[in-house]
Amino acid sequence: MGVDSAGQTLMDNPHFIILGNEKGGTGKSTLAMHVIVHLLHQGRSVGVIDLDSRQKSLTRYLDNRKAFSEEHGLHLAMPEYTVVERSAEDSVRVMEDEERAWLEQAIRSMNTDFILIDCPGNDTWLSRVAHTYADTLLTPINDSFVDLDLIGQVTADGSKVIKLNYYSELVWDCRKARNMNDKESTDWVVTRNRLASLTSRNNRRVERALESLKRKINFRVVPGLSERVIYRELFLKGLTMMDFGKVQQIGKMQLSHVTARKEIRALVEALNLPLD
Ligand SMILES: Nc1ncnc2c1ncn2[C@@H]1O[C@H](COP(=O)(O)OP(=O)(O)OP(=O)(O)O)[C@@H](O)[C@H]1O
Ligand SMILES: [Mg+2]
Repeated sequence: MGVDSAGQTLMDNPHFIILGNEKGGTGKSTLAMHVIVHLLHQGRSVGVIDLDSRQKSLTRYLDNRKAFSEEHGLHLAMPEYTVVERSAEDSVRVMEDEERAWLEQAIRSMNTDFILIDCPGNDTWLSRVAHTYADTLLTPINDSFVDLDLIGQVTADGSKVIKLNYYSELVWDCRKARNMNDKESTDWVVTRNRLASLTSRNNRRVERALESLKRKINFRVVPGLSERVIYRELFLKGLTMMDFGKVQQIGKMQLSHVTARKEIRALVEALNLPLD
């Protein structure tokens, strides 16, 4: 549950899911779309706020879904969705106040069970504010030490943490702010995306490094997704792996799709979202 800058409770009790990572292209919007459709298929209402007002990838994904649904007369389940733009004000103070007010307005306008906020792949004021709302913070990282470095620096073999880095400090600050506001805590979930091979040496090193980092910072690691062309192809139709079997026009389900759907289901279920 969120509290606005005036200390007022914003909604009845929506569950906030934030997709965040300061690195671009790690799969935030792709995962966001899959979480949204999963929730819709569970009969839950979802409000979506896109903070990436320049790329608007998630908005475009949802627009594609709407268009595909209309074109084929499918009545696909859709969330409510909106973009919060960046302020053009020069004064940092005025800009921050304006953007925060726009975000709070967007949140208030959604009367849904879940509110999902997709953050851009860089550090922005709005992204920081969004992190303070997180009941669930989902951070996908690509399978490399470059991505891992945003969370923390580890020794070459991954066995020891040298220091925590910028993004974990940001999450720490936002968790603290959230805890002061409404005494709730954030479930921070890290997942690896675009895995090449589960048996590679790199994979084992990243795994070990995550284990080391987990001991220092309070996050969970949930099963990740392999690199698959299908994720890029589905974007144009606005469809997800969850739509296989439900939407005939998605095409024939191949063996690799069955495995992909298992992966994404395992990931989404491991989020332990409140569905009861
Ligand atoms: N598991 C995957 N296999 C193959 N391609 C993937 C996978 N996950 C994401 N992609 C592709 O990678 C690209 C980046 O993904 P996405 O837009 O979801 O990342 P992002 O973190 O939201 O990026 P940004 O930070 O720029 O908003 C997209 O083209 C997407 O289709
Ligand atoms: Mg994105």
